[in-house]
Amino acid sequence: MTGELSGQTAIVTGASSGFGRKIARYYADEGATVVCADIRETPREGGYEDDPDRSTPEIIEREGGEAIYVECDVTDPDTVSALVETCVSEFGGLDVFVNNAGIYPPLGKVHERPVEDLDRAYAVNVKGVWNGSKYAVQQFLEQDSGGTIINVVSLAGLCGWAEQAAYNASKGAAKQLTETLAIEYGPEGVRVNAICPGFAPTALTSDLYDVEEFKQKITDNAPYGDRWVSPEDVANAAVFLASEKAAFITGECLTVDGGYGLTYAHTRDL
Ligand SMILES: NC(=O)c1ccc[n+]([C@@H]2O[C@H](COP(=O)([O-])OP(=O)(O)OC[C@H]3O[C@@H](n4cnc5c(N)ncnc54)[C@H](O)[C@@H]3O)[C@@H](O)[C@H]2O)c1
Repeated sequence: MTGELSGQTAIVTGASSGFGRKIARYYADEGATVVCADIRETPREGGYEDDPDRSTPEIIEREGGEAIYVECDVTDPDTVSALVETCVSEFGGLDVFVNNAGIYPPLGKVHERPVEDLDRAYAVNVKGVWNGSKYAVQQFLEQDSGGTIINVVSLAGLCGWAEQAAYNASKGAAKQLTETLAIEYGPEGVRVNAICPGFAPTALTSDLYDVEEFKQKITDNAPYGDRWVSPEDVANAAVFLASEKAAFITGECLTVDGGYGLTYAHTRDL
């Protein structure tokens, strides 16, 4: 720990599992007070968490940090507004909001899948980012302090990808939201950036990661590293983007993928 985020208060959505859990832990380790928001308190089943029976705040407190859990459905503006209110009433303000909660509809071509895939993906992956950003920005403006928003998008927001049209469409929209928010609120001292990870083993991708052939294919296509992305890679990027070291970075979509997105192999065949 180097205290990169000492004195900061951060909200992380989807903080009970996967990337969000690791981001929350890394933020606390860097000195931030963390509000862990999710629809469930303990991790999703099927992921690869250490200590899956404990909530993220329990782990953070055991490690000497400060965190609380707040139940929140990012698709519901009222619960997101209440989330920010709780953060402010408990900790006196808000500095960093990480829109991380997301879903990944089942794979399939457009003609095979119901349009409800798109509705669900948009509700969480786009409307969730909209809601989180809206109430975070309202609080930043009220504090007159500036602030930072980080959206966990995906490599899928940067290019086409067979059999995951609903996911890619939603992540493409989240990328555009990132850039638009950066332009709109830059003058108010608000930085807005995205992290675009490649495939990482979490509950979201376990159906794929647990298939040896698929797992190996992703590894083989990575130009660098000979492995999948790890939640630690994503959490390190989230610490950097929230820190003073990223003080002049905004509107950026930072890929964290070992160069996988450069190969384009995935656009034809996962
Ligand atoms: N795992 C990957 O390979 C990968 C790659 C690129 C981007 N992403 C993105 O990273 C983010 C985190 O994914 P992950 O892999 O950690 O997934 P995950 O499924 O392990 O964790 C997601 C968390 O979000 C929560 N969540 C889902 N819907 C919610 C809602 N409506 N309101 C509040 N919380 C909700 C879940 O309960 C869960 O705890 C997502 O936005 C995902 O699209 C994941």
